[in-house]
Amino acid sequence: MLPKTIDITTNIGQSLQHFLNETTYSQLAILVDENTAAHCLPIVKSFLPENILTIQIQSGEENKHLGTCQQIWQAMTDAAFDRKALLINLGGGVIGDMGGFCAATYKRGIRFLNLPTTLLSQVDASVGGKLGIDFGPYKNHIGIFKEPETVIVYPEFIHSLPQEELRSGYAEIIKHCLIQDADYWKVITQRQLQGQDWPAHIDHSVRVKYKVVTEDPTEKGLRKILNFGHTIGHAVESHFLNHENGRLLHGEAIAIGMIAESWLSITKGEIQESELKEIQDYLLSIYGKVDLSQENLEEIALHCLQDKKNDTGKIKASLLHQVGDCAFDIEITLAEVKAALQYYQSL
Ligand SMILES: NC(=O)c1ccc[n+]([C@@H]2O[C@H](COP(=O)([O-])OP(=O)(O)OC[C@H]3O[C@@H](n4cnc5c(N)ncnc54)[C@H](O)[C@@H]3O)[C@@H](O)[C@H]2O)c1
Repeated sequence: MLPKTIDITTNIGQSLQHFLNETTYSQLAILVDENTAAHCLPIVKSFLPENILTIQIQSGEENKHLGTCQQIWQAMTDAAFDRKALLINLGGGVIGDMGGFCAATYKRGIRFLNLPTTLLSQVDASVGGKLGIDFGPYKNHIGIFKEPETVIVYPEFIHSLPQEELRSGYAEIIKHCLIQDADYWKVITQRQLQGQDWPAHIDHSVRVKYKVVTEDPTEKGLRKILNFGHTIGHAVESHFLNHENGRLLHGEAIAIGMIAESWLSITKGEIQESELKEIQDYLLSIYGKVDLSQENLEEIALHCLQDKKNDTGKIKASLLHQVGDCAFDIEITLAEVKAALQYYQSL
């Protein structure tokens, strides 16, 4: 069962109109970037009131910062939005995280509705109420937990997504299988990116994530398993954020993190060699191999010291017991992180 706040729908018009009819609000805004303005706004526009305020920001992780928040707060201030106003976030994880953060802090909080439009935001960011922005190279360093009024997941939105964004979102579907569902791992690994049943996978992933976050909404324990691949993956992503050779998409970095952390899982006496091989072969077949450069490994590893799961200066990772089962709060050292990156680099 999913709660009323998550609606996976094949009829976006009906879902949106139902929500708006049931909700009272003083003013309404929709937050978009140039891509969701072009591809997604036309799909929903006819179901929205004509006087809705459109706030458009520039797409991309590099714009997920305080400066863009100021632009959003300014637009709502200029339109004299009060505390009964409502913000609709139409976009990927950047719009969802940042729009939610702006709504949750504007005049101490107005309500917001999320319409995730990327695969990643539908299978991951749509559930769990984490909102925030980046701070320098540190991902989601500033933020809060707050649930949107509703999340309407419309899988059809992903049809206009560039292939690399689809691939990025797929990493979280893979992660959900590795940490919670060995049977579904067998289902998804039958195919490469092509020919996957996306609506079924979106439904599956939302349910896995929802089950975990309802047991532990504020990440005191179990929810940490959702960070499998993310301790090292975020470090890699942070490193590439300001890299002259271009950045890595979130899922591409997490794929590296999942290989490195699967290797660490072996060194901690958990998964079998054969499982590591299965995981790394599949991930490499989808994401290819990224050259991290030997001279960068130390610098990448150091980013782990800022990981949000760390506890009194110790790096804590979520590692696999076996495919479909994940442990959390496993202490790892900087040297082990570096060794795991070295392992990935050696493939
Ligand atoms: N809150 C959470 O629990 C959570 C979980 C995972 C990731 N995140 C965050 O999500 C962000 C990544 O999200 P993302 O991968 O969706 O990236 P994104 O929001 O940057 O979107 C990726 C690109 O796709 C474009 N786009 C969006 N929808 C489109 C569509 N339907 N058609 C064509 N183009 C479209 C966007 O304009 C952007 O250029 C990161 O900032 C990450 O930290 C949050």
